Amino acid sequence: MGADLTTAMQRVCKQLDGAFTLVAVACDDPDRVVAARRNSPLVIGLGADETFLASDVAAFIEHTRDAVELGQDQVVTITRSGFEVTDFAGNPAEGKRFHVDWDIAAAEKAGYDYFMLKEIAEQPKAIADTLLGRYTAAGRLQLDEMRLSDEELRAIDKIIIIACGTAFHAGLVAKYAIEHWTRIPCEVELASEFRYRDPIVDRDTMVIAISQSGETMDTLMALRHARDQRAKVLAISNTNGSTIPRASDAVLYTHAGPEIAVASTKAFLTQIVACYLIALYLAQVRGTMFGDEIGAIVDELEQTPAAVAKVLATVEPVRVVARELRDAPAVLFLGRHVGYPVALEGALKLKELAYMHAEGFAAGELKHGPIALVEEGVPVFVVVPPQGRGQLHEKMVSNIQEVRARGARTIVLAEEGDEAVAPYADQLVTLPSVPTLLQPLVATVPLQVFACEMATAKGHDVDQPRNLAKSVTVE
Ligand code: AGP
Repeated sequence: MGADLTTAMQRVCKQLDGAFTLVAVACDDPDRVVAARRNSPLVIGLGADETFLASDVAAFIEHTRDAVELGQDQVVTITRSGFEVTDFAGNPAEGKRFHVDWDIAAAEKAGYDYFMLKEIAEQPKAIADTLLGRYTAAGRLQLDEMRLSDEELRAIDKIIIIACGTAFHAGLVAKYAIEHWTRIPCEVELASEFRYRDPIVDRDTMVIAISQSGETMDTLMALRHARDQRAKVLAISNTNGSTIPRASDAVLYTHAGPEIAVASTKAFLTQIVACYLIALYLAQVRGTMFGDEIGAIVDELEQTPAAVAKVLATVEPVRVVARELRDAPAVLFLGRHVGYPVALEGALKLKELAYMHAEGFAAGELKHGPIALVEEGVPVFVVVPPQGRGQLHEKMVSNIQEVRARGARTIVLAEEGDEAVAPYADQLVTLPSVPTLLQPLVATVPLQVFACEMATAKGHDVDQPRNLAKSVTVE
């Protein structure tokens, strides 16, 4: 024996299975703290004359913004003179230093009653910050953290997006753009289902793992399975230094700032934006779009913060409807194309905040069953595609007529100037005109506000809904 604390920790870790973060001190060696991690968060804060260990940088950000990511299966030894990192076998290793770029004020409520309200209001800035610096004056996309070579990107012949909950819905939205811009087949799979379906994955598959927290165990275990099958894994995360980006080949960070409320809002919009940037980057590298086409879409993306701000300024009627519907037994959400995942997201928000039965449907599915749910007074949100998409728009108008004829109370989200839907809308929520693929960025906001107001009207804890955690670090 006689091994020091660090060696003892290394020996213990080699014998352990599963996910863990360990911290140890020894009474006969008070100047040393040793910690280790596997599949569980651990970051080191480097203060002026103090060092911190935490699962999230928020714990020490008021003391220091200089931090170190500890990698998988690593041990860190902290003494008065500094810190050293090894692997479980005792070989020297490297943590990755980073600077935390958001401030503690961002993690406060800033006068809002709930973090969720603040985070809904922060969405224009979150989108703008996520776009910042990613398109050069020369008209080229540059994704610095990409860490995958152009050659690797050109070899990709399939994309699989894995995620959970709201992040999964962002993936469903992204699929439409990815396939349209890159012509690469794109599947979207619930992370908790992915590895159990024996997916077809090889070295030319890109797996995109979307996770706000970067700690969701279902997503982490799915990406590990993908990497075992030799896929290239690209993480999209909002949390610098979190486990999922560290476990991936590459990462694209969203810059939404800390999202404290359990119900995800600004992360959702910025995940969509990040997916679009990746799709456009792939199109640029593979030549499936011309530079001016990419530039035009980037321009439209850069206008969405203003469009979202416009929605935020006009959502009061949605709050009124929420209070009127506080006792509704259920709410249905309909959408087509990218509006379908928006309908799913609207339903999820209502489930997790108002504890109400809510369901999102592809509007074309109504006649295959769900329309039996429609009866007098049932509230039905309808996300109407922009008028430019003739087929989609016309079919959606007839869907509204179908549910209205059966007594539904229709809350219709449609672009400004869309006169076709007005006769069938009990409540019309106008959206700024944006291209079809960008409409989720504006159409989701009223649904977030509706769910938040409904939860408030019911007296629920908006930021910490029952039974839920912000980061689900168990499978
Ligand atoms: C969203 O409102 C929920 N809190 C939940 O569905 C969440 O999106 C999901 O757990 C995924 O979390 P992640 O993005 O941190 O991986």
